[in-house]
Amino acid sequence: MRDTISGDLLAWYDGAARKMPWRTSPADRAGGVRPDPYRVWLSEVMLQQTTVAAVTDYFTRFTARWPDVGALAAADDGDVMAQWAGLGYYARARNLLACARQVAQMGGFPTDEAGLRALRGIGPYTAAAIAAIAYDQPAVVMDGNVERVMARVFAVQTPLPTAKAQLYDLAASQTPQTRAGDYAQAVMDLGATICTPRSPACGICPILHHCAARAAGIAADLPRKLPKPEKPTRTGQVWIIRRPTDGAFLLERRAEKGLLGGMLSFPSSGWDGSDAPPPAPLEYQTLGTARHTFTHFHLNLQVLASDAPCNPARGAFMPLNPKDLPTLMRKVFTIWSDVVTR
Ligand code: ADE
Repeated sequence: MRDTISGDLLAWYDGAARKMPWRTSPADRAGGVRPDPYRVWLSEVMLQQTTVAAVTDYFTRFTARWPDVGALAAADDGDVMAQWAGLGYYARARNLLACARQVAQMGGFPTDEAGLRALRGIGPYTAAAIAAIAYDQPAVVMDGNVERVMARVFAVQTPLPTAKAQLYDLAASQTPQTRAGDYAQAVMDLGATICTPRSPACGICPILHHCAARAAGIAADLPRKLPKPEKPTRTGQVWIIRRPTDGAFLLERRAEKGLLGGMLSFPSSGWDGSDAPPPAPLEYQTLGTARHTFTHFHLNLQVLASDAPCNPARGAFMPLNPKDLPTLMRKVFTIWSDVVTR
């Protein structure tokens, strides 16, 4: 059997590890510093479907405000949703709070993958990542980076998602018994900086001589992927209603279940072509269209505005801080402010 990649990868990581506010450096780790499971968990939930660059400031603000899981468990739901605003995938924020409350009740985070997996919002990837990074357990941490690195090292030609189980087995075969947390993060760093999706920097790769795809000259072509179905476009309306007396805006909190669940929003129709009447019989001005892409569809929301006084049947008038809104509603608000400040 040939050597695993972990020795060369860890040696590279010792010198090249990226600094991140949730990370314990390999030198500190070797010196016996233990990562804080709360910070590992919080960062991993934030990093689901989101880039390191986008997460960093959010992570710093969250941990300044809620430095441990007990503090977060005691937080107000609306404050947590407001702090999450702009990060997307808002079910994560609701699950985060539910999970913090579970963990506070239990007196601390579980220390094994199965226990972690049982918590709200923690799937196989996150449970494995926390077990590895916080507790150095040899869990198999599978994300897009790991899939790509394994597909290339072993020149797997089967396309994703068909190849997932095979790539998992290959990843398991490479996971070391010691330094599992550093190893998991080393693969992530390799995937983010060298073994990148489009133009991998094979010339400076620390595991070049392990790589079958490189030897065959096909690294940039892997992993192969089955074509994804095109996203449909949905449409709807959103209504910006400002109270003339004090400039407050009509806002509502969206239902917990569904898109942007639990977030503050301007009132809107359904987003599937289903009509809902505007909140009151008012005169509206059409301002433009806000465009946003969700995981499974594109959305075009027609933005209508009114300053007429009204007694709303839904939502409440309140001062608006655009930072508390999800990105789609910030786009909607920008369309409004571009028109009124013109
Ligand atoms: N993506 C997900 N978790 C990560 C981590 N701990 N470091 C870098 N990238 C990541």
